[in-house]
Amino acid sequence: MQFSEAINRISVSPTFAVVQKAAKLKARGIDVVDFGAGEPDFPTPENIKQAAIRAVEQNFTKYTPTGGIAELKQAIVERHAKDFGSSYKPEECLVTVGGKQAIFEAVAAVINPGDEVILPAPYWVSFLDIVNYAGGRVVTLETREDEGFALRAEAVEKLVTPKTRILVVNSPNNPTGAVVPPEEMQKLLALAERRNFLLMSDECYCHFLYEGRKPFSLGASKNRENLLIVGSLSKTYSMTGWRVGYALGASSLLDAMLKLQSHSTSNPTSIAQKAAVEALRGPQESVQTMLAEYARRREKIVAGLRSIPGIECVNPEGAFYVYPNVGGALEKAGMEDATAFAERLLEEVHVALVPGPAFGTREHVRISYATSQEQIDEGLRRLKQFVSQLRPAYAQAR
Ligand SMILES: Cc1ncc(COP(=O)(O)O)c(C=O)c1O
Repeated sequence: MQFSEAINRISVSPTFAVVQKAAKLKARGIDVVDFGAGEPDFPTPENIKQAAIRAVEQNFTKYTPTGGIAELKQAIVERHAKDFGSSYKPEECLVTVGGKQAIFEAVAAVINPGDEVILPAPYWVSFLDIVNYAGGRVVTLETREDEGFALRAEAVEKLVTPKTRILVVNSPNNPTGAVVPPEEMQKLLALAERRNFLLMSDECYCHFLYEGRKPFSLGASKNRENLLIVGSLSKTYSMTGWRVGYALGASSLLDAMLKLQSHSTSNPTSIAQKAAVEALRGPQESVQTMLAEYARRREKIVAGLRSIPGIECVNPEGAFYVYPNVGGALEKAGMEDATAFAERLLEEVHVALVPGPAFGTREHVRISYATSQEQIDEGLRRLKQFVSQLRPAYAQAR
């Protein structure tokens, strides 16, 4: 069968590909240390699960309004106001099937073929493929590792053209964990206003910040025309499988996104919406408990990685990923890029991680530390062993 040009422009998410490969090995009884998955290893908190069970028992199991139930929209804007000082109205909120659907719909609603989207690299791979699918042109902005992958408005401005329609900002960032400071965020929004493009701010990791950094959202600004906030309950409440996300922004843009939703998924799952109301309105302690555990794991993994010759590691400021540079190890073994490194690592010592080329850089790997401290210890031990045994390519050939 012949497939569309649009579908041929994209590929399956490399993150899923790694997860699948690791799952295959596990199914063969192999003990894999899995640093691949971008999801919390904690169960969904009990109060949230109970809300879903109640929804089923009360037969809340039918179609809901396409853009989400009124109660959930209200809960989202109230939570956002409480956490970040924003003032969105429920009609400025769209509930989606995960944050990913909000991003997909926003790009589809705004981008014509040839329009430009500025995407800071390293980037979460779905941004790239979603824009490619829509026929947009991705303009990547390389952030610098020696600056902690910092995103600067000055650098963005140099890439803005009359065709720029969207700037993607993802802070804390997947895969680097880099956080854009509030002052820089304001500069980016001012630039979006001045040059009239949409700043799409993906806040999916907004509660996972370390060393006393305070959660921040541009949503507290009054701007509605140039800003779209994309949020998700997936990571904050360990609800990845429930598929609840949202967008906050101008109601005209949300209406355009809703059209697409009405012809694709319709509403987010009714039961999951009730669970989401409880997540947002119920006790918030579980978020702090998870954050405290991530903070411990982060220290362990950064220290462990830095102790391995051939690996360098920027301290991530948020999210639950580290993005070490394995360039020294690649050079030592004559490996072409981090994809080759990741493949050999999985085959030889059974450690799964996602290679950097998926995120737009050649020499890095993404490690998710949303896994137990025991797994982190074991993974570091295997990684160290793997790197120490690497030999120059010519030595292997002999
Ligand atoms: C940066 C970023 N944005 C959005 C998402 C989407 O999450 P979900 O669709 O589960 O809400 C993810 C998931 O990994 C992500 O890493």
